[in-house]
Amino acid sequence: MFKKLKKQKKNQPNQSDFDLDLHNIPEHVAIIMDGNGRWAKQRKLPRIQGHYQGMQTVKKITMEASDIGIKYLTLYAFSTENWARPKNEVNYIMNLPVNFLKTFLPELIENNVKVETIGFMEHLPTSTLKAIEKAKEDTKNNTGLKLVFAINYGGRAEIVHSGKSLYDKLSEDGLTSDDVTEEMINDHLMTHNYPDPELLIRTSGEQRISNFLIWQASYSEFIFNEKLWPDFDKEELINCIKIYQSRQRRFGGL
Ligand code: IPE
Ligand code: IPE
Ligand code: MG
Repeated sequence: MFKKLKKQKKNQPNQSDFDLDLHNIPEHVAIIMDGNGRWAKQRKLPRIQGHYQGMQTVKKITMEASDIGIKYLTLYAFSTENWARPKNEVNYIMNLPVNFLKTFLPELIENNVKVETIGFMEHLPTSTLKAIEKAKEDTKNNTGLKLVFAINYGGRAEIVHSGKSLYDKLSEDGLTSDDVTEEMINDHLMTHNYPDPELLIRTSGEQRISNFLIWQASYSEFIFNEKLWPDFDKEELINCIKIYQSRQRRFGGL
């Protein structure tokens, strides 16, 4: 009972949400969390400090997304290209889910958040995988926000993977290339359980997609936010949603 009341209170819009149209909240928001390294550099700190601080932002943005009724939040945490970084940085990032979930999992559970992932998980270190698997298992019956981490994810690799698994399926079902449809390709992507993101945000001022959701974002609204990810906060998220709400989506029509 207490939990329910607390949750209702949490879900009440606060002052900064005031002119947000609560009937037009994007169902799926995807974020390229960029700028951790530059945040650290500005402070003459090692880059890994930026990643630590970025993890704190993930917690705050997840809670805000849940409170305003976003259904899917996909966060780009590590790309298939990020392995090219120095070993110590890669190791630190790989260890982040262990720390993050140790402190944050109870709050995710309390808030009915369901943790999921997209990406090539089999290449992650065992300890990282274990922490993520535990979070998925402990939240699997939750019905609120789906928090999807894109880890060792790349859009091109995902499409190649989809093509291969679709090819196997066609052979199995005795079908040919003539039978291939957009829907079938979509069904073999790692995101097949999610609607396409209506809104895609990239922080840090960079204006590119960096191999994130390249199929799924074909009609997403893009917002390039100037804040470095560790400085991104709930007011910025609300602002992005307000900008989204002011856009006219045409999907090729008039
Ligand atoms: C984003 O921040 C986090 C990851 C890519 C893992 P960056 O580490 O790319 O930060 P910048 O772009 O160097 O500032
Ligand atoms: C994209 O950021 C990947 C993630 C945020 C995980 P990058 O920093 O890797 O992208 P580029 O190299 O600037 O395109
Ligand atoms: Mg970057």
